[in-house]
Amino acid sequence: MYADRIKNLPPYLFAGIDKAKQEARAKGVDVIDLSVGDPDLPTPDHIVQALKQAANDSSNHQYPSYEGKLAFRNAVADWYKKTFDIDLDPKNEVLTLIGSKEGIAHAPLAFINPGDVALVPDPAYPVYATATAFAGGEPAIMPLLRENGFLPDLDAIPADVARRAKIMFLNYPNNPIGATASEKFFGELVDYARDHNIIIMHDNPYSEIYYDGNRSLSILEIDGAKEVAVEFHSLSKTYNMTGWRIGSVVGNADVLAGIGKVKSNIDSGTFGAVQDAGIVALSSPKEVVDEIRKVYQQRIEILYKALKDIDLVLEKPRATLYLWAWVKGSSIDYAAKLLERTGIVATPGLGFGKYGEGYMRFSITRETKRVEEAARRLEKMKD
Ligand SMILES: Cc1ncc(COP(=O)(O)O)c(C=O)c1O
Repeated sequence: MYADRIKNLPPYLFAGIDKAKQEARAKGVDVIDLSVGDPDLPTPDHIVQALKQAANDSSNHQYPSYEGKLAFRNAVADWYKKTFDIDLDPKNEVLTLIGSKEGIAHAPLAFINPGDVALVPDPAYPVYATATAFAGGEPAIMPLLRENGFLPDLDAIPADVARRAKIMFLNYPNNPIGATASEKFFGELVDYARDHNIIIMHDNPYSEIYYDGNRSLSILEIDGAKEVAVEFHSLSKTYNMTGWRIGSVVGNADVLAGIGKVKSNIDSGTFGAVQDAGIVALSSPKEVVDEIRKVYQQRIEILYKALKDIDLVLEKPRATLYLWAWVKGSSIDYAAKLLERTGIVATPGLGFGKYGEGYMRFSITRETKRVEEAARRLEKMKD
């Protein structure tokens, strides 16, 4: 019945954990689920109020424009200017998305012919590889290893793979690792992409969720990046808006035109009222995100200390909602043991690719008092 493209999807590794979680809940265990990357904090009220008002505007009840309202694209351009000091032409260097996942999933359809390669990191958000495969392409893995600062080793990409590669996906600050990329690395990357005629698709939804005052970069801050790169951005994590489905892709105008062409044949844009509220979100005073960041910073400190105390190997994340801890053995077994002993659910690293094996991802998207409770329970993982 099913097409090969879905029959060939990798097995759902979390099925066993999901089942165990349900069984534990049925037995009355007070499960603390640290496996999801979905902010528990509500969308700030001024954004919700803006949506309510915009929903009354009947011009928003008709089909939206494919590329998004110019006013929304202007707001994205202004946000990039104030956040990263990058100039974007809202007319052709900004495209509205129905969440960044939508744009990422459709992008390979614009550039990949059957047999072409997309370079994808491992471990990684799984959409890069599946979207490449859906387009008939071959994902070629770039391992992200601790000894390389969890950055891909560009020199290790075989010459024939680089020749066949049309696009490269990357994501810093990184899910699931929490690592960030330096300006130096981004510079080398832009040179590499130019030399090998590869389009960089940089996925940057966590840019504002950073810690210890170390702001994260946009790849477009690098001179010449616009010649070779686009960057996906999202309101999901910055403003606790995962349910709203709104994001953008910015940068190289020709690349955006390709993605736009695919999208205009698949979807009909983002609800106008959500775009109006998105404008209000992007224009929020800086304090709005500062407050959100403060809550996460506190949770990161609590969980980081607890994981260190049980002798897991990890670095304090520089950004994102995740702690990435080396548990030394099978991540699937560790996840099962963790649930059994503590009632905590976390994500086995293997779910993000084979180079994620041996690691667990702990998310901080639960109320601070639940994170504190999780920290207390983690003591039971001491052997
Ligand atoms: C690395 C990464 N990219 C993209 C997304 C998708 O975000 P959204 O579609 O909500 O913008 C996520 C969500 O968890 C993510 O972790």
